[in-house]
Parts: sequence; structure tokens; C-alpha cells
Amino acid sequence: MPDTVAPNLVAAVSESRHWDRMMEMAAIGAFTDADGNIGVNRPCLSELDRQARRLLISYAQQAGLPVSVDALGNLFLRHEGSDPTLAPVLTGSHMDSQPNGGRFDGIWGVMAGLEAVQAIRESGVATRRAIEVVAWTNEEGGRFAPGCMGSMAYAGFAKPDTWDAVTDLQGVTVGDALAEQHAAEADLPRRPLGVVDGIAPHAYLEAHIEQGPILEMEGDEIGIVTGIQGSRWFLVEIQGRTDHAGTSPLRIRRDAMQDAVRAITALNALMHDPADVLRFTVASMEVFPNTSNTVADRVRFTIDFRHPDNEVLQARGNAIAGVIQAALQTCRFTLTERFHAVPVNFQQEVPAAVERAAKAQGLRARRMPSGAFHDAQFMVPLCPTGMLFVPCRNGVSHHPAEYSTAAQLAAGTRVLAQALTELANT
Ligand code: GLV
Ligand code: MN
Ligand code: MN
Repeated sequence: MPDTVAPNLVAAVSESRHWDRMMEMAAIGAFTDADGNIGVNRPCLSELDRQARRLLISYAQQAGLPVSVDALGNLFLRHEGSDPTLAPVLTGSHMDSQPNGGRFDGIWGVMAGLEAVQAIRESGVATRRAIEVVAWTNEEGGRFAPGCMGSMAYAGFAKPDTWDAVTDLQGVTVGDALAEQHAAEADLPRRPLGVVDGIAPHAYLEAHIEQGPILEMEGDEIGIVTGIQGSRWFLVEIQGRTDHAGTSPLRIRRDAMQDAVRAITALNALMHDPADVLRFTVASMEVFPNTSNTVADRVRFTIDFRHPDNEVLQARGNAIAGVIQAALQTCRFTLTERFHAVPVNFQQEVPAAVERAAKAQGLRARRMPSGAFHDAQFMVPLCPTGMLFVPCRNGVSHHPAEYSTAAQLAAGTRVLAQALTELANT
């Protein structure tokens, strides 16, 4: 395969067009935090999400790319290849954000895919295979848990109706939110969910900001992602009894909050890792009835647990129930697992294509694993898969201060364009 730079293609990536579109997109759901950072709150399957999708569709129309949508709301823009019978190359990411999110997580991978494809078209570089740019539904899991619903359903990890009854904090179900979205997008052509006509993609390459500090610290411009660590999400519900905060002696209470604190303390001990590789996060808690002078009868909290070693992921994840059971003094509990993504290592093809493109363009690149999960995790059984990272300032992500420069994004997009072209011609 060529490891020389494709000058027309590289020159056709427009840093200013790409950045301007990124900022236009970032205005949808924008907010300014107390420190003056401009963040994005664009929940999946919301009106803002649909506005962003319409904007993407308008760019696709300008670029001459037909658009289609599947049963999960995954949105596809297609650049046709010279041989439409061949399996396409897929690229993309997600458009939803965390509630206190940034302007780059996810959306950059979609917009980079669009810019790369537009550059391929404008430079007249031939591709035998089609290249499809996908915007996966609900990668974040911020409004509806778990994340990666669109890619999991596409890849056959779960049936399309698996999450229909899942609710957001307002009680809206995924099923209803999806139906509303389909109604609003009834003008878009539908495509079957999953691999079309039994033809899996030829390859999947997702571009993303790193969301960590390594590239910036090391002075590297491109991360060649080697794999993604495993993640498990759980919902814990502790059930006790309400009582009067002024009159009921502590010894007779069944205080769900106090038992939740005991459970979390015990879980911290279970998850203790002197090497600091393991990730354990409790970051969402609901308390009922949630007043200061009534003992809580119900507390729900989430667990986000990650590890690159599947044995550790399984062993400690499976120990959670017993640890909570042993920690509770007066309450009962239920534990529901909502997400289970095992660690993946990418096959060589796609990382190698990214590496060749970065090298050909004279960029400093390093191989590195991903600590964040991504839709790419679920594509691994379907086709050769990979990701490329660009640096982000101070490694900050899931925060309004998340930032990558126009030049950093353009460099990643040029590598993406070249790697996609190579993959689409093999
Ligand atoms: C993705 O947003 C993750 O939490 O890793
Ligand atoms: Mn993301
Ligand atoms: Mn994210």
C-alpha cells in the first residue's frame, strides 16, 4: 500500500470549512459555564439532536451525499465507490453529548468523516468502495443508559427493541423518543438496521479527540488506537423506609442513604488498585423522597467500572453484588447490569493504515489504547476496526473546557482522508 502522501487529497481538506462547521454545530446546545468555557448539552433523541442532524444533512446535501437512517436512528451519508457491489468502508462517531459536555467529543468524528469524504470527492481521488459516514445514536448514555445503543444494535449485540422501556430522568422512554425522532425525520430514506444484504463493512475507522493528556504531553499529533478497555455499568437501588428525621431514633431506622454510603465505601475497597489502572466511578445518585427532614427510603446510584484486562473486569464486576450485600445494615437492594463491553484489541489492518497515513504526512504519531469506550468497540467482530485520536487541551473531556485547535482537527482529518482512501481501494 502507498505510504506516500496524496497531495491533492491532503490539500483538499479545508481547515477553515471544517472548523467553521464544527463551531456551527457546537452552537446547537451551547452554554457558557461559570469560568467562561463554552460547552454543549445536546442529549440524544432530543430536539437539539435533531437540529444538529438537520445541519449535518444540509452539509451532506452540499457535498452531494445521499442520506439514510435506520430503525435505531443511526444516520448514514454515502459517498459512492466505483464498484457499488463492494462492501463499504465506514467512518463516523456520535453527535450526542454529555449534559456538561464539550464541543468535540463524538461530533468531531462525524464532521471529520464528512470533511474527509468531501475532500476525496473534490480532489477527484478514486475509491473502489463506497465510504459511509455514520452518526451513531446515543453513544454517551447521558440521557438514556447505556451508551452505544445505535452501534450495539447495528452490530447485533442487542435486539433493536432492547432499550424501548428505558427512561430518562423525566420518565420519557427510548421507544417514545425514537418514535418522535422517526416522525420528525419521516422524509429521510430508511435503510435496514445492521449489515446491508449480509455484507459487513470492509473496515471501520473512527476519529475522536483523545479525551486524555498523553498526546499533548508527548508532543504527538496523532494517536493510533490499538484497542479499548472494557466497561461495565450497573444500577444499584437500595430500599429502606421513610421516617421522621426529628423523632425516629437512629437505631430503628432503615435509612437507604446511610446504607448507600456504606455500599459505596465497600465498593471503593473492592475496586482499590494500587497501580491506578482500574477506573471506578459513582456519579449519578437519586434519593427519594429527597427532602432534608425525611429519612430516605430509596437511593439509586450508578456504577461505571472499567479495566483493560477482561479477567479483572469479570472478577471484580461479578463481586459487586456480594460486596453490597455484606455492606448493607438495614436495607435491601437490587443490582442491574446495564452495559457490558469487553476489552477489544483492534486487528492490524486499520491501525496500520492510520500509521502509514500519519507517516506519509510527516506527523508524529503514537500507538495507544483508549480509556473511553466508543462505538468502534462493537464493530470489532464485524470488520477490521480502528480509531485515530487527536490531542485535546490538558486532556480535558466531558467538560465544557474540552478543546482541540483547528490545526489539530485538520491534521487528524487529513490522516483520516488518506487512510479511508487506502481502505476503500483494498
Ligand atoms: C464515553 O463517553 C465514555 O464514557 O467512555
Ligand atoms: Mn465520544
Ligand atoms: Mn463521551
